[in-house]
Parts: sequence; structure tokens; C-alpha cells
Amino acid sequence: MADLDLQEIHDFLITIAHKAGEMITAAHPSTGAAGSKKNSADLVTETDRAVETMVSTSLSEKYPNIAFMGEETYTPNTRLTPSPTFIVDPIDGTTNFVHHHPYVSISLGLCINLLPTIGVVYNPFTQTLYTAIRGRGAFLNRTTPLPLTRPAPLTDLSKCLVAVEWGSDRSGPDYAVKTRTFARLAAAKQDGGAMVHGLRSWGSAALNLCAVASGAVDAYWEAGCWAWDVCAGWVVLSEAGGLVVDANPGNWEPSVDGRRYLAVRGGEGQRGIVEEFWGCVEGAFEVGRENP
Ligand code: IPD
Repeated sequence: MADLDLQEIHDFLITIAHKAGEMITAAHPSTGAAGSKKNSADLVTETDRAVETMVSTSLSEKYPNIAFMGEETYTPNTRLTPSPTFIVDPIDGTTNFVHHHPYVSISLGLCINLLPTIGVVYNPFTQTLYTAIRGRGAFLNRTTPLPLTRPAPLTDLSKCLVAVEWGSDRSGPDYAVKTRTFARLAAAKQDGGAMVHGLRSWGSAALNLCAVASGAVDAYWEAGCWAWDVCAGWVVLSEAGGLVVDANPGNWEPSVDGRRYLAVRGGEGQRGIVEEFWGCVEGAFEVGRENP
């Protein structure tokens, strides 16, 4: 496995992403036809399943020795191992997809030794492609280096635009941590808040990470999403100078399948923003405790 040709795998993943993009844009999804998984806000469509089948079949034919983890075929409680593993979300942003909102992507990642190593994130509606190989830089549409502009210093959260996600779990202690933290991030300083410039909730973790990589948002915070939502975008972000830490305060080295993430763009003052953000987290998430 030491001799994996990362460039060849990267190029093949891009070919697959385009093929998946054709399937996604040709589909006619509807809210009525979408099925649900754990609850009515956790959606899946026939297209999610068909794209995952196409991706897993193509990958296993070409790379039979590389393991596969995909959203639609995941067996609960399976942990990522150090063996090379493709980590795939056939449609990240399924809720947007069924509502014809174009913030949708296919997310194709490769982890080696538990490290996100190749990332390909493609939005077929806007034809926006983010790609990266560990140690070789991150790119928009293959040629434009990320971030898109020279990153300004990160001085404090009150000057940041922050992406967050509600996710599909809408009750319980973790939901309370989220909603109280959202309020704290938004609130005025005199009321104990960080008064960020704004909170955005776009509905695709993979594209959110790429937005942090490109510099369109300064940070992204979520707990509850999965390795397939973040693996590919993580490589793009790291290669653009960004950092991923735990959504709960204190852990600078979260695991890919740890289910809690805080991403901060590149730039002087990055670690200070992490500390300030952690100071705004109202409690601690339980999700991911089983995946330390
Ligand atoms: C979802 C999206 C969403 C995030 C959820 C994910 P899906 O992925 O990434 O932004 O908030 O946690 O599950 O279900 O559309 O593949």
C-alpha cells in the first residue's frame, strides 16, 4: 500500500465526481419522494443510493485493496481503521437537493493511517470543484490555488463570519448545546456574546469546509455529522492553511470519525480564534464520545 499513486487516485476521483454530478443534475428529486432515516429531517433519496453504488463499484473495480466507507451503506458502530479507506458521501446536502437548493456536493475522500489524504468535493449545480492531495496544495477548479485571497489576520470572533449547522437531531442535550452556543455567538458583547458578523447555515458540511478553505467564511462549527461529510473537505481546508479541531473545547487533534468539528481558516491568529470560540461553547457535546 506504500506505493499508492495519490495523483492517479485523485484524478480518478475527479472523473467519478463528474459522473456523479451528471446523475445528480439529471435527477428529479422531490420532498414527497425522499425517504427518511432516523427522523423526518434526515433525508435520503434514490439518487443518493444510486450514486453511492456507482462510486463504490467504480472504486472497488479499480482499487480492490482499498476499503470503502459510504454514507448509505455504513454499518453502525464501524470505526475507521488505519488502512487506506475511501470515505464517500454521494450527496452531501440531501435536504437542499430535494428542495432544489443548489448547495449540494459529492464528497470523495481518501484516508490513510487515519489522516485525510485526498479530497474531492464537487458541486454539480454550480460546477465548482475543490480538490487537494495532502502536502500538494488545494485548488478550485483544478488550477486556482486556495485560499482565493491572502488571508487577513484573525483578530477576534466579532470580525468573523461563521458557518454552523442545525443538523437533523432536534432535541436533547446536544441540541441545547448547539442552540445556546448559536445565541451566544450572535449576541451583543454587553450581553456576554461574541457578536460575530453573521451565522450561516447552508446545509453541506463538505462545502462549508471548502468555503472556509477558500476564505468565504472564517470558521465552521458542527457536531453530529460524520466522517463522509468531512473527510474530503478536511484535506482541502488543511492544504489551504486551515485547521480542524474538536467542536468541544480542549482537543486540538480530533479524529476524522469523531463527529465534532471546528474548522478555522488560515491566517495569523488562527489558534486564538479557536480558543475564543471554545470559550463560547455552552457545555459539551455528547455525540462522538464513543469515538474518542
Ligand atoms: C448533512 C449535511 C449537513 C449537516 C448534516 C449532514 P447529508 O449531510 O452535511 O450540512 O448539518 O449533519 O448529515 O445528510 O446531506 O449527506
